[in-house]
Amino acid sequence: MSKKDPFFKTMQKLAKTYGPVTGFYLGPTQPFISVVGAQAVREALQNNDLSGRPSGAILLSRTFGERLGLTFVEGDVWQEQRRFTLRHLRDLGFGKTSIEDQMMGEITDLISEINATAKSNRDHVVDFKSIFSVSVINILWAIVGGKRFQRDDPKFKKLLDNIDQFLQSGDVLQANLPVPAILVRLFPSLPGRLGINTQLFVPIQKFIEETIDEHISTRLKGDAARDYIDVYLDEMERQLKTNESTTFSKKQLISSIQDLFGAGFHTSSSSIGFAVLYMIHYPTIQQKMRDELDDICGDSLPSLAHRLQLPYTEAVLMEVMRIATIAPAGVPHCAMKETQLQGFTIPKGSILAINLDSASNDATAWKDPENFRPERHLDKNGKVIKNENLIPFGLGRRVCLGEPLARNTMFLFVASLVKTFAFKSVPKEPLPTLEPNAAILLSPKPFFATAIPRVYSL
Ligand code: HEM
Repeated sequence: MSKKDPFFKTMQKLAKTYGPVTGFYLGPTQPFISVVGAQAVREALQNNDLSGRPSGAILLSRTFGERLGLTFVEGDVWQEQRRFTLRHLRDLGFGKTSIEDQMMGEITDLISEINATAKSNRDHVVDFKSIFSVSVINILWAIVGGKRFQRDDPKFKKLLDNIDQFLQSGDVLQANLPVPAILVRLFPSLPGRLGINTQLFVPIQKFIEETIDEHISTRLKGDAARDYIDVYLDEMERQLKTNESTTFSKKQLISSIQDLFGAGFHTSSSSIGFAVLYMIHYPTIQQKMRDELDDICGDSLPSLAHRLQLPYTEAVLMEVMRIATIAPAGVPHCAMKETQLQGFTIPKGSILAINLDSASNDATAWKDPENFRPERHLDKNGKVIKNENLIPFGLGRRVCLGEPLARNTMFLFVASLVKTFAFKSVPKEPLPTLEPNAAILLSPKPFFATAIPRVYSL
């Protein structure tokens, strides 16, 4: 959803007229609460009674008509599946260095591709449309399914297109309309008519299922798990023997993987894209970041071990995350019981749209939120300071499950790219727009830029 999206604009307008918490009805009976402004947003995210998720026939049509996956489940299923996924993704390298080699492999591939394109024309012009998607999905897929795709694999390209189209097609209000399941069964095209094209998920689910089946047939008892699918299958087998009401199942695994990709791929690649765009718009900041990287990393590409010594680079990334807020309305929450928010009573079952963008761009909290100013994240000694209103990953029990991976990915990609290339707008062309694409998640509009190779001749 773009900041220009009508729903987003409505949230801002309602807040101006009625204050940070505004309620209305979706259809005849569904209370819908819009939460805007740093204080109200933080209070809502930290209230455990508001950590549920909505469910409805349209959302269910993504996951075999059942409440499955990680993002739109709650209660015991959510707790068990989220805890399991977090623990094992950490073991397989989430936020740790063991996945770093994999990331660096993707980064050197990407650098080679940009380098080759840049060198193929006089002005070093590169098309940045979807250029980061393959690298990001390869990292996710290595953790989940232990496999890597070639950049030009047509099957893979089709899958990327499907995920992309689905994310671009969504609309928060429509996805949460209280449409009865019977209507979706009678009119399977209904979600599509409401802009939620669930058919796009069919080939994705088929692909995930084929990969799971391949894992089942090649898994050897007693061998170390190769990836998330293997550890999941081990746990499922164990639980099926001992626990009749287990939440582990093949459909649940497919849905969880679908949610990990739905939540992880577009967000990470868009963040890297926005960082490059902001570097083009702010050449002095780009140069200052590069100077710091040259100083600390010498001739090598940045690694996670360098990170603590790179406060300016960190501040630039924080500022990109703040100003771009790629998930401006987060993911809708739901009141699991009646509760209070900013002194208002929130009825049980209310759906809440919690406006994260209004926290990262709150004028009281940030003074000049409209300005791109990395220095705001540094103290007078140049050390990174954390502002409680910088919450692009949310906060509280529902905080993004992939935050450590996303932060590491963004750091390694952006730092490596800035160290390797000088990014500029195309000669005689206007600067590429910072205005995002309008969808549930913001992404940069396709753009061309000049990438002048610096240190490496790959
Ligand atoms: C820059 C990248 C990313 C951003 C800005 C981001 C942001 C968010 C936000 C705002 C939420 C909703 C929080 C809430 O409901 O209050 C969320 C949830 C989630 N994210 Fe991320 N995310 C990113 C990357 C990732 C990655 C890489 C993964 C996985 C590999 C991931 C997996 C998830 C999942 C599964 C949820 C649902 C968690 C739950 O409902 O318990 N995200 N993310």
